[in-house]
Amino acid sequence: MLGDFTYCNPTKLYFGENAINGLRLQLPNYGKNVMLVYGGGSIKKNGIYDEVISILKECGKNIIEDAGVMPNPTVEKLYEGCKIAKKENVDLILAVGGGSVCDYAKAVSVSAYCDEDPWDKYYLRMEDVDNKIIPVGCVLTMVGTGSEMNGGSVITNTQQKLKIGHVFGDNVMPKFSILNPIYTFTLPEYQMVAGFFDIMSHILEQYFSGEDDNTSDYIMEGLLKSLIHSSRIALKDPKNYEARSNIMWIATWALNTLVAKGKTTDWEVHMLGQAVGAYTNATHGMTLSAVSLPYYKFILPYGLKKFKRFAINVWNVSQDDKSDEQIAVEGLKQMENYMRQLGLVMNLSKLGVKESMLDGIADATLIMEGGYKILNHDDIISILKNAL
Ligand code: NZQ
Ligand code: ZN
Repeated sequence: MLGDFTYCNPTKLYFGENAINGLRLQLPNYGKNVMLVYGGGSIKKNGIYDEVISILKECGKNIIEDAGVMPNPTVEKLYEGCKIAKKENVDLILAVGGGSVCDYAKAVSVSAYCDEDPWDKYYLRMEDVDNKIIPVGCVLTMVGTGSEMNGGSVITNTQQKLKIGHVFGDNVMPKFSILNPIYTFTLPEYQMVAGFFDIMSHILEQYFSGEDDNTSDYIMEGLLKSLIHSSRIALKDPKNYEARSNIMWIATWALNTLVAKGKTTDWEVHMLGQAVGAYTNATHGMTLSAVSLPYYKFILPYGLKKFKRFAINVWNVSQDDKSDEQIAVEGLKQMENYMRQLGLVMNLSKLGVKESMLDGIADATLIMEGGYKILNHDDIISILKNAL
């Protein structure tokens, strides 16, 4: 571990079957006006909406509803939410949903009192927040993004064909999050496995970088093993509480800033996935699964030592008389088998990408500098072609 860092995570978590009691404990800390933010209605079908409403009423809150947050929330929706939050003088934004709802809540929280266009300020120019921030709390219903304990907020601008994430500081992270694994039981399988791969990708984005001996890499190998084990169980038995609760906990630790401390990180898979998302509006985890292997195969020669370690420590690949490259390649093969077992989308064409879109997607892909190879436009095109 070589880097200097400051670590602080201000999000208070309430985890487990009775986690919702934490909402009762937290609500008295905030003013009367609570903006209840949710998505397309899954929480009305599975009863979470009723549970949350009754607690809000019990605590004497004035409830302002902002529904219809779409997967991959748009900038237009953000502008709408800002108007409501300001007009209603909102004291707390309560996000009840998945990463999209939590991300949107954070975006409204920093944008409602922003004098300029928040898209330009926070997403294009990546500036810090210098205006009033409305506190956010989350009741998580979908596992994957880690949005429940981080400052990330991803917004899509469909007109500009850009999907951009701003990682805000600890002043924007949720003040509290309610994590009840049972809330995730109603997720359709497609969303469930997309979330599993999102978790894996978050870990790999932070694992495949650097050559130093770093405690975080050992933590990540443990998280990956636990994820692979529990996701195989959850696939066969989605209501297995032990597996689903482990996965919920791994997702939080995969992206709550801890494992990134003191090391370089990559995030190029997410940049590719986000560009694909801007063009297709596809499910986030599936954009990642479609590009990951072509990307990793491309950078393998530059990070051979780490890919070998990944194969041995995560996938139990035997070393026997094999070359480093053979071992590393076998690790990726095992990862591919696992991905196919989960039923993930393995090709961009399945997400609606056409060859004619590749130039645009490559232009929309931000180039990161923390991984094993800094890509250029031609590299990106070649990876995207292999992913088609
Ligand atoms: O809208 P509703 O009706 O709630 O349905 C949602 C949505 O259709 C459904 N769902 C959620 N919980 C459910 C449920 N359906 C049944 N039962 C439940 N318990 O699932 C669908 C997907 O939800 P969404 O919130 O979009 O999924 P996810 O959690 O994967 O969030 C994706 C967004 O997060 C961003 C992505 O880019 C994308 O915009 N990310 C945020 C990150 C962060 N904050 O750090 C990092 C990630 O890498 C990611 O980029
Ligand atoms: Zn992700």
